[in-house]
Amino acid sequence: MSKTIQAAELRGRVATIIRAAGSSEAEAKTVAHNLVLANLSGHDSHGVGMVPRYVDAVLEKGLTPNASAKVVVDIGAMLTLDGQRGYGQVIGEQAMKLGIARAREHGSCIMALGNSHHLGRIGHWAEMAVAEGLVSMHFVNVQSRPVVAPWGGGDGRFGTNPCCIGIPVAGREPFLLDFATSRVAQGKMRVAHNEGKQVEPGLLIDENGQPTTNPGVVVVPQSNGLYGALMTFGEHKGYGMAVACELLGGALTGTGTWHREADQRRAVINGMLTVLIDPKKLGTQQKFEEETRAFIDWLKQGPAAPGFDEVKIAGEPERKARAARETSGIVVDDTTWNEILQAGRKVGAALAD
Ligand SMILES: NC(=O)c1ccc[n+]([C@@H]2O[C@H](COP(=O)([O-])OP(=O)(O)OC[C@H]3O[C@@H](n4cnc5c(N)ncnc54)[C@H](O)[C@@H]3O)[C@@H](O)[C@H]2O)c1
Repeated sequence: MSKTIQAAELRGRVATIIRAAGSSEAEAKTVAHNLVLANLSGHDSHGVGMVPRYVDAVLEKGLTPNASAKVVVDIGAMLTLDGQRGYGQVIGEQAMKLGIARAREHGSCIMALGNSHHLGRIGHWAEMAVAEGLVSMHFVNVQSRPVVAPWGGGDGRFGTNPCCIGIPVAGREPFLLDFATSRVAQGKMRVAHNEGKQVEPGLLIDENGQPTTNPGVVVVPQSNGLYGALMTFGEHKGYGMAVACELLGGALTGTGTWHREADQRRAVINGMLTVLIDPKKLGTQQKFEEETRAFIDWLKQGPAAPGFDEVKIAGEPERKARAARETSGIVVDDTTWNEILQAGRKVGAALAD
């Protein structure tokens, strides 16, 4: 069973809960807007289904309402920021505004953001930069539970460590590649588990390191008290990208890497290394505009393979989902909806179901 809700109504309900959990009106609105945009973009795993986890994290004091990004180092084109365990939706926005201004001024900016609570859909941050004509690259580590196994390993050792590259394309929609380095996002396993579905083979190993199609192995502890793990995408290559995200997003930002046993804490801490480039300052702007457009058009003119309607570029599925869901509304499964209502009750926001 499920429920279909229009984006505006969902934003209002989520904001009420986040507000009741201690956030200012403005912060609650920013968090709600960001989460609902993830749902609209087709990424339900990073949408309103995160609210129960955020509420638990606030109650455990692992997530701090009304925190701001603190500037630790500022040498112009290099910025180091401390997210102070604040809502990533707010910290990320503050950090990107600073980084974008620096890239405009100096031509590039390397920004190390440490210790932010969950930054959600990383594509959101690249979209902010691309809208200003900038190239934006992001390497992120995740401190919550070691849910992804190394290539050749039999248990989870690190997080779903996302990587994102946004490139503006003059006269066309931007290229917006945004992916977890696990074969699938952990949240998608939560959604599948909540819907009582099995997933395709090749995504997961169980608590004993054996292949499985049961998404529950990474959502709830198994019979021996342990979790299973997600596999990385692209075998050893995706595994290498995941390690790069851990080292750049975790070590280089000062957030820390994962090297301890799992615990049950609910906070999700992200470290994000961002590299911003202003193509106008490289002296290649005209060629860059012509060549990006020519290449994207070339890709799109190719024939579709059997079983595909067309060749797409990264970012298209999310834009299409937004256009559709703005009208049709957002489908929330019953388990997720009940968890959201329960999260509201925990902080005294009783919403009608
Ligand atoms: N904050 C965190 O801790 C965290 C951790 C992991 C993932 N995430 C987020 O989870 C979200 C989902 O990640 P995912 O790996 O499940 O994404 P995904 O597999 O749905 O998409 C990955 C990318 O592939 C592109 N794509 C999809 N279909 C395509 C096609 N047919 N042709 C061309 N390109 C196509 C998409 O536009 C997207 O850029 C991302 O937004 C990511 O940032 C966040």
